[in-house]
Amino acid sequence: MNEPKKDDPSRPERPTTRLVTGGRDPFSYRGYVNPPVYHASTLLHRTAADYLAHRGPYQYGRRGTPTSEALANAIAEIEGPACAGVALLPSGLAAVSVALLSVLKAGDHVLVTDSAYLPTRQFCDSVLTRWHVATTYYDPLIGGGIAGLMQSNTRAVYLESPGSLSFEVQDVPAIAEAAHAKGALVLIDNTWASPLYFRALEKGADLSIQAGTKYIGGHSDVMLGAASADAATWPALINTVHTMGLCVGPDDMYLGLRGLRTLGVRLAQHGAAAMKVARWLQTRPEVLRVLYPALESDPGHAIWKRDFSGACGLLSIVLKPAPETAVHAFIDALTLFGIGASWGGYESLVIPFDCAPMRTATKWAPGGPTVRFHVGLEDADDLIADLERGFAAMAAALLP
Ligand SMILES: Cc1ncc(COP(=O)(O)O)c(C=O)c1O
Repeated sequence: MNEPKKDDPSRPERPTTRLVTGGRDPFSYRGYVNPPVYHASTLLHRTAADYLAHRGPYQYGRRGTPTSEALANAIAEIEGPACAGVALLPSGLAAVSVALLSVLKAGDHVLVTDSAYLPTRQFCDSVLTRWHVATTYYDPLIGGGIAGLMQSNTRAVYLESPGSLSFEVQDVPAIAEAAHAKGALVLIDNTWASPLYFRALEKGADLSIQAGTKYIGGHSDVMLGAASADAATWPALINTVHTMGLCVGPDDMYLGLRGLRTLGVRLAQHGAAAMKVARWLQTRPEVLRVLYPALESDPGHAIWKRDFSGACGLLSIVLKPAPETAVHAFIDALTLFGIGASWGGYESLVIPFDCAPMRTATKWAPGGPTVRFHVGLEDADDLIADLERGFAAMAAALLP
């Protein structure tokens, strides 16, 4: 049901225009700008023959409605022509796990970046292990060297770029070339950039995953996931989704669609404000390093510049060595940065984190405590003033 309309060369090509036009067909819903929200399970047929022949575009609420179709088509339009279909899932993590399940079977081996989001690792280490799929974690900066880790049963290589805590930028084309040469598929968690800033399917990925909870929703009020597939991976992906009985509630899909319309302006603002905050953080004596690929000084900057067309509002800092009490004093003093998981909403967030316990292929030793920020849509100068207050509280906590 969620197959996008094929690319029409007469339609505007620019992604921000597609965000506005994608998945919309007002005159098929009485001229209203937005599609109706179909609260639907049963769909009626006019005749027994129609029912038996599955005639008509829809079969059953779980398998797709005009609401799911509108959102899936809109996402497909920003993924680009390489996208053969978008499966909607009830969370970003569900999109990760279902995409992996759709390409793996017992006896397979999967290579997963050491920088992956922790619940992704937990899925591999628990469910995949139980189903006799072996996982090997690899250095996110391995590039074409991934060829050396491929085994005869390696079926998939999983990437997350940049890592959503540590921000290593992966060389997707090089990894994809090596993986494809050995017959493996490439999956990527592309939530940080979204398809607007990184066209994963055109850079070599076969499946591209979005936690729609983040920037697509954009307002911290919805759980949503999407997995976008190329022509080769789409049949198995949608079959896995349908046979597992997965679907998204209509109101959540509508919130995703509503969020998507403003993704362009929001991401531009998040990115500009994050850059201002990142540059300011670089000047602070308490900060050892800012982890944000859009900064020229970032080790991933060259690949980011080559492959991405923008950066979002998510970044981390490495503080100079300081006791945990001082780091907590810094965080607790912030008033505009809320302390909480997730990101991609309109509001700023902050969390302390430590990748060391979750790494197995690489050593995480950044040189000091680490803190992640989501730069929201507040005025960047107000955010900087808030951070200044945080650093003052940190200094006070360090006084004897
Ligand atoms: C990079 C990344 N991928 C996937 C997810 C999972 O998304 P969700 O919270 O919608 O399950 C998250 C959530 O924080 C994330 O940061």
